[in-house]
Amino acid sequence: MCGIVGYVGLREAQGVLLNCLSRLEYRGYDSCGIAVSNGHIAQFKDAVRVGALKETCPIFEGTAGIGHTRWATHGLPTAINAHPHFDCSQRIAVVHNGIISNYDQLRKLLIDEGHLFVSDTDTEVIPHLIEKYLDDEPITAVEVALSKLEGSFAIAVLIDGYDRIIASRKESPLVIGIGDNEKIIASDVPAILDYTNRVIYLEDGDIAIVSNNEVQVKQNHGGGTVNREIHLIDWDRKQIEKGAYDHYLIKEIHEQPKVIRDSLANYFERETYDFQSLIDSETSSLVILGCGTSYHAALVGKHIIEELLGIQVRTELASEFVNRGRVMPASAAIAITQSGETADVLLSLKKMKQSVARIFVITNVPGSSASRMANHTIFTNAGPEVSVAATKSYTAQLIELYKLALSSNLLEHSIRKQMQAELRQLPALVKQVLDSESEIANYSRMLSDCSTVFYVGRGINFPVALEGALKLKEISYIHAEGYAAGELKHGPFAMLDKRTPVIAMIAKDDVYDPMISSIKEIKARSSPVIAVADESDDSIGSLADVTIRVPHTSSIFSPVINGVVLQLIAYYTAKYKGCPIDFPRNLAKSVTVI
Ligand code: F6R
Repeated sequence: MCGIVGYVGLREAQGVLLNCLSRLEYRGYDSCGIAVSNGHIAQFKDAVRVGALKETCPIFEGTAGIGHTRWATHGLPTAINAHPHFDCSQRIAVVHNGIISNYDQLRKLLIDEGHLFVSDTDTEVIPHLIEKYLDDEPITAVEVALSKLEGSFAIAVLIDGYDRIIASRKESPLVIGIGDNEKIIASDVPAILDYTNRVIYLEDGDIAIVSNNEVQVKQNHGGGTVNREIHLIDWDRKQIEKGAYDHYLIKEIHEQPKVIRDSLANYFERETYDFQSLIDSETSSLVILGCGTSYHAALVGKHIIEELLGIQVRTELASEFVNRGRVMPASAAIAITQSGETADVLLSLKKMKQSVARIFVITNVPGSSASRMANHTIFTNAGPEVSVAATKSYTAQLIELYKLALSSNLLEHSIRKQMQAELRQLPALVKQVLDSESEIANYSRMLSDCSTVFYVGRGINFPVALEGALKLKEISYIHAEGYAAGELKHGPFAMLDKRTPVIAMIAKDDVYDPMISSIKEIKARSSPVIAVADESDDSIGSLADVTIRVPHTSSIFSPVINGVVLQLIAYYTAKYKGCPIDFPRNLAKSVTVI
C-alpha cells in the first residue's frame, strides 16, 4: 500500500506530483506530502487527503520532487508520520512504500551514532542511513543504505544539490514513465497516464538514476548497468476519469458489459484461446488461491472447473496458505490477483514454486510482480480499477476462469458449444441487470438502516453470498455475513429476527429445492427475505418479501449476473448512508503488507 511518485522534467514539479498522487489515492489516503528541490528542499505534508493538501500547500518552485500518499503501518496517520521523511540535515528526502522489517535495530544503531528521529515510522531510517554514507557519491550512498535494509520497499530519494531522483524497488511495485524531457516515477501506471503511456517496469534489486532526459538502471549490490524495456500501455486516460458518474465504483460497475465483451473478443474471433488446454490431461489436481474478492472468484472457479472438467480443485486463502507448514502437492496452481501485488499472494507463489510445476496467474496489471513470478500470465481485460472495492475485476476474473475451463481438451464438444453460446450472451444479460438499477436502488434504501444483513446461497452461489457480504461491509460499514444457506441452522439462526434481512441467491439448478427450504426456514424466523431469482421462477414471489428478477442463464454463469446485483445493492446502500464509497476507511486497494 501507499503510493509514491517522483518527477524530474521541465515543468514545475508540484502540480505534477499532486496530480499523480490524486491518481494513487486508492493505495492509501490517510495522509500525504510532497518535497520539491530548488536550491534547497521545500516540503509540506499533513494528515489529509490529496485534495485538501492541494488547497493548503504553499507554492514551491522547482522541477524535481517526490510525493507520497500513505496507508499507515508504523505509527498513527499524523502529519509527522506522513512522508517524505528526512535526515538530520534536511538535505535528503525519502518516500517509501513497503515495510522495513529491521528498522528497529537500524534506528537504535543510528540513534547511538547521534541521529535524531522525529516520527514513529520505519521509513525514517532510510534518509538517516543515506546521510551516514553521503561522503560518497549520492548513488553509492543510496546503494550502501539499501544493502542494510531488510523487508520490502519501493523508494524515491531526492537529495539537495543532486539533479536526479534515485528510485529502487524490492518486492514493491515501481514504474518509470518516459516522457519527452520528463520522467515520472510512480507506484502504479494510472498515476502517469496524464503525461505518458511509455513505461519501464523496474525489477527487484534495480536502482534507477532518473534525470529529465535519461533513466540509468543499475542492479543493487554492485551489479552493472542493465537495460529495461520500454512498454507501451494501451489504457487510456478516460478510463481513469470518473466522467459523469458520482463515484468510480458505479462507473466501474457499469463498465462490466464492455469488460466482458473485450474479454471475449479475441476468444471468439480467433476461435482459439492463448492458453489453450492449460488445464489438460496432465492436470490431476489444481489449487486456486487469492485474497478477498479474488478468493471469492477462486471459489467460483472451483465450481466451474470441478463441474465442467471433473478435476479436483483445492482453494486456498493466500493469507492463510502463506503461513502453512506443509504444502500439499498439486499438478498446477492458479493465483488470482487484480493488482498482482498482494503480498500474501506473492509470498504464496514463492512457496508454491517449490512443489507445483505449473503456475498460472490471473491478474489485471501488466508488469505486476505476480505476473513475473508465473509460468503463464492471463491478463484480465478490466482496464484500470480505481475504486478500492473490486467489481469489474471480479467479473473479468470469472470470465477468464470460464474461458480456461471451456478451452480444456477435457471438455465434451457439445457442452463447450452450448456454454460458449451462453457466454456470448453475458454482456447483454449484465446490461439487462444494470437497466433495473433504479429498482435495486430502491430496495437498497431499506438496507441502509439495518445493522446486520445476511447473504445466503448454495452451490456456486455460496461464494457469491460471501462476495455480496464483503462488498456491503466494505463500502457501507454495515455488518454483513455470507453463509452457505444450509449452514444457517447450525448457529446463525440465533441471529435472525425481523430486523435482520437475508438476501438469498436462488438459481434454477440442482440446489433449487434445498434453497426453497432454507428460505422457508428463514421466513419462519421472521427475517425479511430479498430473493435474487431467475426471471422464470414462478414460485419464489409468494415466499420472498422482495424479489429481484435476473435474466435466465445456466446457473454456472449466475455468479456474474448475481454478482452485479449485489454490487449495486452495496453501492446504493452505501450511497444512502453517505459513505466515502471509493475510499472506504482503513482500506487500500493494493495490499502489499502481510
Ligand atoms: C474487496 C477487495 C479486496 C481484494 C483483495 C485482493 O473489494 O478489493 O478484498 O480483492 O485485497 O486483492 P488483489 O486481487 O489485488 O490480490
